[in-house]
Amino acid sequence: MSDAPSAMLPVMAPKPLIAIVGAGNLGSALARSLRRAGYVIDVVLAHSPGKSLRKAKRLGNEIGARAAIDPSALEDADVVWLCVPDSVMAHAADGLAEKLDWSGKTALHSSGALTSDELAPLRRRGASVASVHPLMTFVCGSRPPLAGVPFALEGDARALRVARQIVRDVGGNAYSIRKQDKVTYHAWGTFASPLFTALLATTEQVAARAGVNRKSARRRMIPILLQTLANYAAFDAAGAFSGPIVRGDVDTVKRHLRVLRKVPAAEAAYAALARAALLYLPAKKKNSLRKLLNSRLH
Ligand SMILES: NC(=O)c1ccc[n+]([C@@H]2O[C@H](COP(=O)([O-])OP(=O)(O)OC[C@H]3O[C@@H](n4cnc5c(N)ncnc54)[C@H](OP(=O)(O)O)[C@@H]3O)[C@@H](O)[C@H]2O)c1
Repeated sequence: MSDAPSAMLPVMAPKPLIAIVGAGNLGSALARSLRRAGYVIDVVLAHSPGKSLRKAKRLGNEIGARAAIDPSALEDADVVWLCVPDSVMAHAADGLAEKLDWSGKTALHSSGALTSDELAPLRRRGASVASVHPLMTFVCGSRPPLAGVPFALEGDARALRVARQIVRDVGGNAYSIRKQDKVTYHAWGTFASPLFTALLATTEQVAARAGVNRKSARRRMIPILLQTLANYAAFDAAGAFSGPIVRGDVDTVKRHLRVLRKVPAAEAAYAALARAALLYLPAKKKNSLRKLLNSRLH
């Protein structure tokens, strides 16, 4: 047994130096979490002078990073994290590929739908690449912690090792996803937050028809929304399902559909979700409800 206490300590690999490309919602939240986890962010890269660079500078000031528009600023970074919209990912990767030596670097993106192949131009230049998608929503002004957030990962072995360590360090839970599942996976995520938000916006329109303005509707709905999520977390979807469909109140559903004719988008959403409820959730008088919903189609 050695007397030297340092001989007992595990050898810690130094944390890689990170560069963030794109100071948008995801890029900003990620950079802050990485900083809190002890990572050094070397540079935040913007795509043009003006607004884009100003945003990068603001984020850079907050997390102690430089802001730049010249891709050569990425030279020292071990990990380059592309946080740009899906629609420009391939173009951005293409644009960065020729500008520096990528051998030994790790390039990551956080798109839910795109695979690591989107970073092929960087892979061809020597980078190891992966996609690292947090199942979380990031909007302007919110700072969700990444602790406990699941991250879906796929890509090259070396990039995956680096990404798994980073996800662990920010408190997330990394798991593997197959390339061919990514689009469906992202559709799932889109239901969980963006389309759920669209449902809330639709709900406000229905409240307006009942004489409740949007602001009051939002305030008054918060308790039932929070309880619904708590019930879902505690019991699952079937256990959290209440209302006229589970009770089989066919007349009530009929009357809802009638008044919702005045809000066609809400009527369509109601009917689509009611059909899903009949498929996936417990309900009394399923056949009568199904007939009612089908008759609405004609
Ligand atoms: N937001 C979320 O909830 C969320 C969750 C998980 C994953 N993601 C993923 O994160 C990525 C970014 O999404 P986001 O919601 O953060 O988008 P966003 O808020 O629109 O931010 C994108 C950022 O990229 C910048 N940008 C665009 N083209 C660029 C380029 N060629 N070089 C450098 N910067 C460039 C934009 O700058 P300008 O605004 O100045 O044009 C903007 O700051 C996407 O792949 C998305 O799928 C997002």
